[in-house]
Amino acid sequence: MSRHLAATSNEAIGKSCPAELDPERIPAHVAVIMDGNGRWAQARGLPRVMGHRAGVEALKATLRLCSDWGVKALTAYAFSTENWSRPGDEVNFLMALFERVLQRELQALEAEQVRIRFLGDLQALPEKLQGLIAEATERTAANQGIHFNVCTNYGGRRELVRAAQQLATRAAEGLLDPATIDENTLAAELFTAGEQDPDLLIRTSGERRISNFLLWQLAYAEIHVTEVFWPDFNRQALLEALLDYQSRNRRFGGVDALGADALGS
Ligand code: FPP
Repeated sequence: MSRHLAATSNEAIGKSCPAELDPERIPAHVAVIMDGNGRWAQARGLPRVMGHRAGVEALKATLRLCSDWGVKALTAYAFSTENWSRPGDEVNFLMALFERVLQRELQALEAEQVRIRFLGDLQALPEKLQGLIAEATERTAANQGIHFNVCTNYGGRRELVRAAQQLATRAAEGLLDPATIDENTLAAELFTAGEQDPDLLIRTSGERRISNFLLWQLAYAEIHVTEVFWPDFNRQALLEALLDYQSRNRRFGGVDALGADALGS
């Protein structure tokens, strides 16, 4: 994650983001649904799993660009609770791929100050993968750079049910007064506890669905859908997503200054 000197005004505030972007309005947290790996491979006459392998390279490049451009957290949907229903060979390939990526990339993640965490029901993953996840989480926990969250065996509904169960258990034990439960109490029980909500959700391959991803956390995220298949997601595609984000007027349910003027307030 080199921070090349850039001869732009962005350099002045220490970010190496492209000149087209406003460095003051870089989304702090970007979430991605990496869709289209299988179709990318099939379009090339390759087995679907080759798309996942290429997808890892796109994810690494996206992580580096986000870090260089000043994004503070990147959360990627790597494996959903529904993905177990894929053919056994593909599921096995994905688990082995996650293991290989962790073994191969851990040193670089450490060196580049990335803090990696895996979000989801990790106990259902193969034991070897669980061990590698624990090691990577621990070895990068104190890193000061970008937060990289990999949602693995993750489902938004299951995450909310789990949070409700945890709160109900504490209430039943007399440790929590139900009347005091508010949005912060619930958010603190989610896998993303401590992370601010995503500002931008990027979904590749043209699908316009949330697909059970970060149901609570995406409440006010801007959504950018691109036709590009995930393995082809590159610097230009990320730049377009961020330019699209910067063109939006985020109101969080309120009105903007212009709207308020129109109402005479
Ligand atoms: C969706 O494409 C992609 C996935 C289910 C897997 C994505 C996983 C990675 C890129 C690896 C990340 C790994 C680590 C450890 C960081 P799809 O198969 O649904 O594509 P399709 O819609 O064309 O079938």
